[in-house]
Amino acid sequence: MSKLSEDFLWGGAAAANQLEGGWNEGGKGVSVADVMTAATHGLERRITQGIEENVYYPSHQASDFYTRYKEDIQLFHEMGFKCFRTSIAWTRIFPNGDETDPNEEGMQFYDDLFDTCLAYGIQPVVTISHFEMPYHLVTEYGGWRNRKLIDFYLNFCEAVYTRYRTKVNYWMTFNEINMIVRKPWKPGGIQWNDGENKLQTMYQAAHYMLIASAKAVKLGKEINPDFMIGGMFLHPTSYAATCNPDDVLAQVKKLQQAYFFLDVHVRGKYPRSYYRFLKQHQLEIETAPEDELILREGTVDYIGFSYYSSSVVMANPTDQDKSEGNEISGYKNPLLPASEWGWQIDPVGLRITLNWLYDKYQIPLFIVENGLGAVDTLEEDGAVHDPYRIDYLRQHVSEMKKAILEDGVEVIGYTPWGCIDLVSAGTGEMKKRYGLIYVDKDNDGKGSLKRVKKDSFYWYKECIKSQGKII
Ligand code: BG6
Repeated sequence: MSKLSEDFLWGGAAAANQLEGGWNEGGKGVSVADVMTAATHGLERRITQGIEENVYYPSHQASDFYTRYKEDIQLFHEMGFKCFRTSIAWTRIFPNGDETDPNEEGMQFYDDLFDTCLAYGIQPVVTISHFEMPYHLVTEYGGWRNRKLIDFYLNFCEAVYTRYRTKVNYWMTFNEINMIVRKPWKPGGIQWNDGENKLQTMYQAAHYMLIASAKAVKLGKEINPDFMIGGMFLHPTSYAATCNPDDVLAQVKKLQQAYFFLDVHVRGKYPRSYYRFLKQHQLEIETAPEDELILREGTVDYIGFSYYSSSVVMANPTDQDKSEGNEISGYKNPLLPASEWGWQIDPVGLRITLNWLYDKYQIPLFIVENGLGAVDTLEEDGAVHDPYRIDYLRQHVSEMKKAILEDGVEVIGYTPWGCIDLVSAGTGEMKKRYGLIYVDKDNDGKGSLKRVKKDSFYWYKECIKSQGKII
C-alpha cells in the first residue's frame, strides 16, 4: 500500500493573530499579539505597554485575511484542502475577556468564515487559543498566573462551542501549551515583576492552563459528544549528542520535562517525574481539591503537535553548540542542514517523533504544524520559485507516510504551517515565509497584499490529489 486513506485530513494551518489583521475591526479588542513590535532574526520582539503611536505592529494588518478570506479559501480549495486549521481570536468574541456576553460581530465573522470553508468541502480545525489572549486580562488579572483566567477561558469556549456546534468538529484547546514554561508572554500574557520566581510563575500558569484545557474538553463533550477535542504540543525532538550515557540521560530528562503536559492531557494526571521536578526546584503549586478529578475527566481525543526541526542534547554543552528553533532550542546537530533562521532540517525526525508519541500514548496524532520559513522572491514574470520548500515538504510527507504505512502510527492529518504567508510569531517578520501562497507584503508592512501561487502550491495540489503518492 503506498497511499494514505481517503479520509486523511490534508490541509494547511494558520492562526488568527498572524493572518487576519483587522485588529480593531468589528468590535475586536487588543490582544497580547497586538502589542508586539516587529523584529528580525536574532532580535527579540518588543512588548509595548498598550498601543504606542508611530510604532509598527505586524499583527494589525497581518495578511488581511479578515477581508480577503473568501479569495484565500478559494485558493485552499484549488489545492484540494480537506481541512483548514485556524484559531478564533479570543478578542473578537470577548474583546476584554471578562465580559459575560460575546460580541456578535466577531461571532458572525467566524460563522461566515466557517460557512465559506464548508461550502468548499473544507473542514475547519480550530485552535481555541493561539497566542492571542485579551490584553485586558494581562493588565487587570496578570494573565495566566491568575486562576480566574480559567473561568474567562471557559466562557469563551462555551460561546464558540455552542455557536459553531454544527460547523466545527475538530478542536484544540491551546496552541503549543508547553510554551508556557519557556516563553510565557504569547501563550500566557505573563511579563516579569521584579524579583519574581519565574519558574514558579510558569509552572503555576501551566497548571491553570491544564485545568482549563481539561474543563474545556469536558464542556465540549457536553455540548456535542461528537466533538474531537485535542491538545496541541510543540514537540521538542532531540537526540543525545553521543552514546555517552550522560548525554543520553540529559536527552531523556529533556523530553520528560516536556511530556508531563501530554501525560496530563492524555492520561489525566501528572507523572511522578513532574512532582520530583517541583521538589527539586522548590516549587509550590497552588491547587484546588477538585483539580485531580477535573484532570481525570478531561482527557483529549487526539494529540495535535508542531514539528519543524530537531536539536541535540548534551550533558555538558558550551555556548557555541547552541542551535535555534521555535522557542525550544537545543544544540546543533553537525549532521543536519539548517534553514536561514538556523532551524535544523530533519525529516526523519518527524518519523521518529510520530513513533515516540504513538508508542507512548497510543491515541491518534495530528501533525498540525510543519514547514520551512524561508525568503522567497517574487520574480519579474510574477512567479515564485521555491524548490527548497517543495524539498522540505516532500521529505517530511515521505517520512510521515513511512510512519503511517510501515510503522503503523495512527495519523489523522497533515496541515503545513502558514499555508499562506503570514507574520512570523517569533520575529514578527513577513520575510520569513512558510506559504504555498505568496502575499505581497514586506517587513515594513508595504506591498499590495496580492496573492500569488508559488511553485509549492502546484506541488502540494498534486500531493493531495494523489493522496500522498506524489512525493
Ligand atoms: C509555532 C507556532 O511555534 O511555530 C506558530 O505555533 C509559529 O504560531 C510557528 O508561527 C513558526 O514560528 P515562527 O517564529 O517562524 O513564526
